[in-house]
Amino acid sequence: MSSGTFITFEGPDGAGKTTIINMVAKQFADALLTREPGGIDIAEQIRSVILDKGNTAMDSRTEALLYAAARRQHLIEKVKPALDNGRVVLCDRFVDSSLAYQGYARGLGMDEVYTINQFAIEDFMPELTIYFDIEPELGLKRINKNKGREINRLDLEDLEFHQRVREGYHLLVERFPNRIVRIDASGTVDEVFRKTIKLVEAKLAEKGPF
Ligand code: TYD
Repeated sequence: MSSGTFITFEGPDGAGKTTIINMVAKQFADALLTREPGGIDIAEQIRSVILDKGNTAMDSRTEALLYAAARRQHLIEKVKPALDNGRVVLCDRFVDSSLAYQGYARGLGMDEVYTINQFAIEDFMPELTIYFDIEPELGLKRINKNKGREINRLDLEDLEFHQRVREGYHLLVERFPNRIVRIDASGTVDEVFRKTIKLVEAKLAEKGPF
């Protein structure tokens, strides 16, 4: 059993997740901030294959397997060692992304996608998952406004795909009410940040002093 605290952040593209996580990380000097797919060299290499706009021929199952492979490497090489050292790990996306995007939106089935991920993560799950909920229309508008942001292969999917991603997340919130907490991400950055930090602090307080 690791002594650290594993917290993940989820949500559709454009929810502002990355901005908020960066702000949260600043509040905890010793926290490890990382992201999926990627976070370490091998996983970043897999990430560039998955998200390459030229890879239009990629089959959905290949996509799901690559995400799971990147997840495995990231977990073993970076997340677990940090948790074993008692650190708080803040991770931008984890297995729920695969369940919502590949399982639900791509139609592979959430249970099927969980099965291949089980092989990768051996049932290692976060203690808290914060889900930033936003209408896909608003999320896509935010992405288009953020000119500095790199557009990847999944951003190019149509609105219907992003609507399905959101439905997938809603199913997950229903299924894992003790682990996943939904935050309305349509508000200002300040509002969303305040709600997020409250949840993180409550989780850390629950675990007692370090
Ligand atoms: P990224 O640029 O990190 O997006 P964001 O900043 O919105 O998190 O790209 C990651 C993309 O990969 C994003 O569109 C979601 C998708 N994704 C999956 O489809 N399945 C997964 O398991 C993960 C981790 C990400």
